[in-house]
Amino acid sequence: MALYSEKVMDHFLHPRNVGVIEDANAVGEVGNAKCGDIMKMYLKIENDVIQDVKFETFGCGSAIASSSMATEMIKGKPVSEAMKLTNQAVTEALDGLPAHKIHCSVLAEEAIQSALEDYRKRQA
Ligand code: FES
Repeated sequence: MALYSEKVMDHFLHPRNVGVIEDANAVGEVGNAKCGDIMKMYLKIENDVIQDVKFETFGCGSAIASSSMATEMIKGKPVSEAMKLTNQAVTEALDGLPAHKIHCSVLAEEAIQSALEDYRKRQA
């Protein structure tokens, strides 16, 4: 069996939503101290709905695939729904990741949570 699913390879080779949103109203950045990978997430939220999302990931292929899939999963969704996105859901949507690469999907979950936290702070 191949180490990576076709979906992981597809999102790694053709990542969706890469880039920066200049007028984002929520930005989150997280890193993994062990591997040194960094992920930055930009959200454009209107009326509590995620109208646009982009990411920059300086990291491994699994982190890129996870961020790409995670952005697809929250685009157009209400903030309340995006808050519930877990790394397990991202991993499942990618048809799995090798055990030692699960932490890469955690980074995607954390980046989104961090951006949503930023949104909440800006609202307050
Ligand atoms: Fe660190 Fe993938 S090896 S995010």
